[in-house]
Amino acid sequence: MKGKLQWFLHNFERLIMKSIVKKISLCIFSLFLLTTGCKKDVEIPDSSSKNTDITFSVPQGWPAPYYNFKNNQLTNAGFALGRKLFYDTRLSRDNSVSCGSCHQSFAAFAQADHVVSHGVDDLLGTRNSPGLFNLNWNTSFMWDGGINHIEVQPLGPIANPVEMDENIGNVLVKLNNDAQYKKMFQDAFGSSEITSEKLLKSMAQFMGAMVSSNAKYDKVSRKENGISFTESEQAGLTIFENKCATCHTAPLFTDHSFRNIGLKPNSINDSGRAHITRDANDLYKFKVPTLRNLSYTAPYGHDGRFNTLDQVFDQMEKDIYSHPTVDPLMTSGIKLSATERENLKAFLKTLDDETFVKDKRFAEPSL
Ligand code: HEC
Ligand code: HEC
Repeated sequence: MKGKLQWFLHNFERLIMKSIVKKISLCIFSLFLLTTGCKKDVEIPDSSSKNTDITFSVPQGWPAPYYNFKNNQLTNAGFALGRKLFYDTRLSRDNSVSCGSCHQSFAAFAQADHVVSHGVDDLLGTRNSPGLFNLNWNTSFMWDGGINHIEVQPLGPIANPVEMDENIGNVLVKLNNDAQYKKMFQDAFGSSEITSEKLLKSMAQFMGAMVSSNAKYDKVSRKENGISFTESEQAGLTIFENKCATCHTAPLFTDHSFRNIGLKPNSINDSGRAHITRDANDLYKFKVPTLRNLSYTAPYGHDGRFNTLDQVFDQMEKDIYSHPTVDPLMTSGIKLSATERENLKAFLKTLDDETFVKDKRFAEPSL
């Protein structure tokens, strides 16, 4: 019963989201047309931007990002505002849950130890909260790609009845009662008026600036002094290139496609990509997740069904659930010997970026 209810709510939210996303995108677009003609370049004020000296650059050797702040200039003040909003529980109906509740900095912005996310009233969601980094390269968001722009993404969780269950109008009313926000909106966008467009743009600045590109793998790729793979990591890389890289393509470790890797449908029969496209060819396909920062983001899989990498490997090896949409690369499973597993795990660890998870600029500011 509970599962059915959640499934219903989930579907309901999708329907609403589709129309909201359409409307908001239109709004943003028309606002943009109205304002670009006369807008002066935003100066970078130093108030309220302590500890947030922020820049965005494409790491060496990476492709051009899909979102590059072209129409939303990244500034210290915009970033600081986005960060405050990200950690503000007032974005939820009962002021109990912030984005940061389910996206924790020490967990590379996944929700540590949660199979599926917990929102207001401790209600359970249906999917595992993914890590948040390198989002500017994402061509879509969510496990099913149901959201296609970083500037509208926050509307999903804010409205979702099992996440924040709040309406954006109420959020704006709450923020309007706070003088500090007025000042921060002023600093970031040149006027103290609090609008959803500015809220979304500042959150896109915060999230888009979260780049994770300082793992050992990156240092080795950049040929930084004296840093090289161990024998085991190197052997792991070779296995990875042979068996995983088609889908988990470097440097982002995803090709941003949707694939069915043969997971048994879960108790709510989450149809994945087909939920958005209504196309039977997309049944049970989910977005290929990045493999960066895996040491921080367990549990794994769209519904958090795997606690460990070994469980993921076991599944690929001998538990392919047959279905017409299973990816040809997966239909006969991927076999790995015990040594191959150890080497592969050693290689995957080189994708952990401790500098990123400890970066104070992204963590909840201390009060
Ligand atoms: C109750 C827990 C919860 C809260 C609160 C929450 N999220 Fe999420 N977030 C999730 C889950 C679960 C997913 C995956 C959802 C899906 O695929 O359907 C997700 C997905 C995302 C994604 C997509 C990442 C990707 O790679 O596709 C972004 C970005 C994101 N959340 C940002 C936010 C922001 C911004 C807020 C606050 C406005 C927020 N989240 C609040 C749990 C939460
Ligand atoms: C056919 C494409 C494809 C191949 C090949 C592939 N994967 Fe994946 N992988 C995926 C998809 C899609 C998911 C998400 C599955 C889901 O939850 O529904 C995934 C999930 C994962 C996860 C869980 C990550 C997380 O954050 O939840 C890990 C770990 C993983 N794969 C590692 C590997 C390794 C290691 C290999 C090679 C041995 C590999 N994959 C080969 C497509 C692929």
